[in-house]
Amino acid sequence: MRCWHPHDAPLFKAALDSSLPELQRWIPWAMNEPSQLDLLEDRLNGYRDDFFGGRSALFALMDPDETEVLGGAGLYRRVGPGALEIGYWVRSDQAGQGFATEAAHAMTEAGFMLSGIERIEIHCDPLNAPSIAVPRKLGYEHGETLVDHAVGPRGESRDTMIWRLTMEAYAATRWEHCSC
Ligand SMILES: CC(C)(COP(=O)(O)OP(=O)(O)OC[C@H]1O[C@@H](n2cnc3c(N)ncnc32)[C@H](O)[C@@H]1OP(=O)(O)O)[C@@H](O)C(=O)NCCC(=O)NCCS
Repeated sequence: MRCWHPHDAPLFKAALDSSLPELQRWIPWAMNEPSQLDLLEDRLNGYRDDFFGGRSALFALMDPDETEVLGGAGLYRRVGPGALEIGYWVRSDQAGQGFATEAAHAMTEAGFMLSGIERIEIHCDPLNAPSIAVPRKLGYEHGETLVDHAVGPRGESRDTMIWRLTMEAYAATRWEHCSC
C-alpha cells in the first residue's frame, strides 16, 4: 500500500475498467468510468495533494512488483471530529483473497496512530455482503443502519450500515493478542 502517483494512471485505469460491473453496483463515482488517462492522472494528482495536505489519505493497493493495481483504499476525515472513515475497492479478478481486509486492517492501525483519533468507521450498503464482511472480521461493531440515507450509483435511495471501532475497543483487542 502506498500513496498514489500520477504515473499509476495506466494501471489504475486497467483495474477500474476491468471491474466496472462490480464497482458500479456500489460506488457512485464509478458511474463516471471509464475515464481518459489524462483525467485519471489529474485525479491521482489530487489524491496526492490531499494526502500530503493531510485532508484524506488514499492508497494504491499494488502487487509486490507494482505491475498491477489490486485496488484502492482510503482514510477520510468526513465523519466528524476525532474520527476517520475507511473506504476500499478491489479489482474484480483479485477479490476474495483478503486484500480489502488487509488494507482496512492497515488503515485502522495507521488511523489510531494519528493524534486525536478516537473512532474509525466503515460505512457499507447492507446488501453488499463482501464489504460488510470486512469490518466484521476486523472487530468493528455494527452501530446503526440509516434508512434511505445514501444515494446509489443510479440515483436510487440506499441504506447505510455504520460499523465503528473505538480506540478503547481497539486497544483492548491489541492487549488480548499481546504475548508480553
Ligand atoms: C467489497 C470488496 C472491497 C471486498 O474486497 P475483497 O478483497 O474481496 O475482500 P476480502 O477478501 O478481504 O473479504 C471479503 C469477505 O467477504 C466474504 N464474502 C464474499 N461474498 C460474500 C457473500 N455473498 N456473502 C457473504 N460473505 C461474502 C468473503 O468470503 C470474505 O470473507 P472471508 O475472508 O471470511 O471468507 C470488493 O468486493 C469490491 O471492491 N467491491 C466493489 C466495491 C465496493 O463494494 N466497495 C466497498 C464499498 S463500502
